[in-house]
Amino acid sequence: MSTVPFDQLDGQIWFNGEFLPWKDAKIHVLTHGLHYASSVFEGERAYGGEIFKLREHTERLIASGKILGFDLPYSAEEIDAACNELLRRQGFADAYVRPIAWRGSESMGVSAQKNRINVAIAIWQWPSYFDPEQRMKGIRLDIAEYCRPDPRTAPSRAKASGLYMICTISKHAAEAKGYADALMLDWRGHVAEATGANVFFVKDGVIHTPDPDCFLDGITRRTVIDLAQRRGYKVVVRTILPEELEGFSECFLCGTAAEVTPVSEVGPYSFQPGEITRRLVEDYMAEVTPKRLAAE
Ligand SMILES: Cc1ncc(COP(=O)(O)O)c(C=O)c1O
Repeated sequence: MSTVPFDQLDGQIWFNGEFLPWKDAKIHVLTHGLHYASSVFEGERAYGGEIFKLREHTERLIASGKILGFDLPYSAEEIDAACNELLRRQGFADAYVRPIAWRGSESMGVSAQKNRINVAIAIWQWPSYFDPEQRMKGIRLDIAEYCRPDPRTAPSRAKASGLYMICTISKHAAEAKGYADALMLDWRGHVAEATGANVFFVKDGVIHTPDPDCFLDGITRRTVIDLAQRRGYKVVVRTILPEELEGFSECFLCGTAAEVTPVSEVGPYSFQPGEITRRLVEDYMAEVTPKRLAAE
């Protein structure tokens, strides 16, 4: 990845309907989204010039805004068209796509009923680190101190910026101890997800993953469940207790950014990335590759 600061990259950013020079896409310091986290976003990847499951991501962005009490001022068609046109202008085949919507700076205070709803999209290069051998070594996860909150205390179904406060704290704490990321439990003490990806386990040829009742039901998660079932694997969605980690042989994370990432350790528990993980790493990469390229 580039060492140039992100606000100094070249190219354009789609900002409230206009394509602005990258460095000019600025907001005021009294933006409500900055002070009170009235902000929702998406993370998407383009492969071979096509954004994978773009419409699902756009619909989730619109739904996240509604959960925070606002309507995006653009339709799903308009947002999709803006993402596609920006990808074309940026000239990348493989890239990361970041749409974001937030309440603006027209008034300050917790209540901001009349503040403008702004929408922007940025696209940058974020290579998919697909070296299967390297990937199959697996990453090490710590167990986070923070828990995914009870849905009665936070809008857990929204991809809302505020929910990432505990993710950044947890990821930084894990990195300080030499781990790549952290596994988070939920408010009941059940296994939930990593700081930016969902988690799966394997035992005796069966795949197990937590029920996403208080954290993001990832688009990649749903894709991986579908791919696993197409392979004939049984997938059990259920409550997973942390003590059970001892009995699982394989573990992997999945998310738009993470894709399918094998895990070798979670706190005191070790895993051996194996056959099922390898198949799903490969099947996922095949699934995201545009059909016209796969045929070449
Ligand atoms: C907290 C969290 N959970 C799960 C995911 C996976 O979601 P998706 O597969 O839709 O990218 C993400 C990624 O955006 C995330 O940030």
